[in-house]
Amino acid sequence: MTVQDTTRTDTGAIRYEPQDGVLLEVEDLYVEFHTADGVATAINGVSFELRQGESLAILGESGSGKSVTAQAIMGILDMPPAVIPQGHIRYCGHDLLTMDEEQRRKTRGPEVSMIFQDALSSLNPVFPVGWQIAEMFRIHRGMNKSDALDQAIRLMERVQIPAARERVKAYPHQFSGGMRQRIMIAMAIALDPAVLIADEPTTALDVTVQAQIMSLLEELQEERQMGLILITHDLGVVADVADRIAVMYAGRLVEKAEVHELYRSPAHPYTRGLLESIPRLDQKGQTLAAIGGLPPNLMRIPPGCPFNPRCRMAQDVCRRDLPALREVAPGRLSACHFAEEVIDA
Ligand SMILES: Nc1ncnc2c1ncn2[C@@H]1O[C@H](COP(=O)(O)OP(=O)(O)O)[C@@H](O)[C@H]1O
Ligand code: SF4
Ligand SMILES: [Mg+2]
Repeated sequence: MTVQDTTRTDTGAIRYEPQDGVLLEVEDLYVEFHTADGVATAINGVSFELRQGESLAILGESGSGKSVTAQAIMGILDMPPAVIPQGHIRYCGHDLLTMDEEQRRKTRGPEVSMIFQDALSSLNPVFPVGWQIAEMFRIHRGMNKSDALDQAIRLMERVQIPAARERVKAYPHQFSGGMRQRIMIAMAIALDPAVLIADEPTTALDVTVQAQIMSLLEELQEERQMGLILITHDLGVVADVADRIAVMYAGRLVEKAEVHELYRSPAHPYTRGLLESIPRLDQKGQTLAAIGGLPPNLMRIPPGCPFNPRCRMAQDVCRRDLPALREVAPGRLSACHFAEEVIDA
C-alpha cells in the first residue's frame, strides 16, 4: 500500500478513506520499554492489517504484548518509558507515528476508538453516565445539551441498556459490570469510528454476560462495518465473532490464520497449547496447564525460537535459529520450524 498525499477538507481536517479496503496497517512495529533494569522489547517486529468490516482477534497469554500493541495504535503509550524505534502504523494510508500530535488527537474517537478492560475505572464516578456520553457529542459534534442527551439516550438504547431514558441520570456505581461495559461500548462507538479496539472487554464478567457483550460487539461491527480488533487471552470468547486470529508470544506474531482453520489445525505448538488449555477466568497471568512454564523475561529472550523452553517439540535447531513468520499453507502464517508437521498432527 502506498501512502497517498494528504487530502484535507475545507476546515483543514484530514479526510480518511480506506485504501483497497484496508483501514489499518501495522508494519514491522517495535516497542521497547527503557527501564532502570534494562531494555524490554515488548513488541518485536509485528505486522498485520485490518480491513473494513473485518474482525481480527489478537490472542496470547498475559504479557505477550497485546495491550502494548493496542496502546501504540491509539497513541496512548507513555513515552518514555516506551520507545518506538522502528515501524509504521498506517490508518487509511497515513502513518499515525509521524502525524503531528494535534492531528493524531483528532483521530482518537472519531476514527480509531478503544474499549478498555476495566469499565469501572474508565468511567468517571462523579458524573451520571448519560452526561458522560452526551459530553462526547457536545465536544466533538458541538451539539447543545438537550440534543446531546437525546443522542446519549438513543445510544444507551442501542447497546441495550434497559429503561435508558430513566437511567440516563444514574451514576456508574448504580450499574452492574455488564451494563457498565455496555456504557463503555456506547462511548467508544459514539463518534462512529472506523476502527474499534476492544482490549479484553469481557474479562471481568461472568460467562453469560461475556457472551452477550460479544454478540453486541458483533452486531455493532456488522451494522457499522467497523474494523474490529478483539484482544483476548481466551480464544473461546472470541471464536464466534472473529474472522481471523493473530497469535502473539513474547512480543512477536507466531501464527496468523482464518479462525476456523486455526481451530481445526493450529500451525504452531503454542497455539495448540492455547487451544488445549482451559482458561481460568478468575486468575490473571496464570500458567497454562497444557503448555507449562512461563513466557520469557522480555529483557532475556532465549536464543532461537522464544517458545523453545516450553515446547514439547523443540529440537536443536529451535535453540539456535529464530523461525521466521512464513506462509506454511495458503493464507496461513506460522513462525515454527516444524509448522507443516504441527498442521498435519
Ligand atoms: N509501562 C511499562 N513499563 C515497562 N514494561 C512494560 C510497561 N507496559 C508493558 N510492559 C511490558 O510489556 C509486556 C507486554 O505487556 P502487555 O502488552 O500489557 O501484555 P498483554 O498481552 O497482557 O496485554 C509486559 O510483559 C511488560 O513486560
Ligand atoms: S520452532 Fe521449535 S521450539 Fe519453536 S514452536 Fe516450533 S518446534 Fe517449538
Ligand atoms: Mg493486556
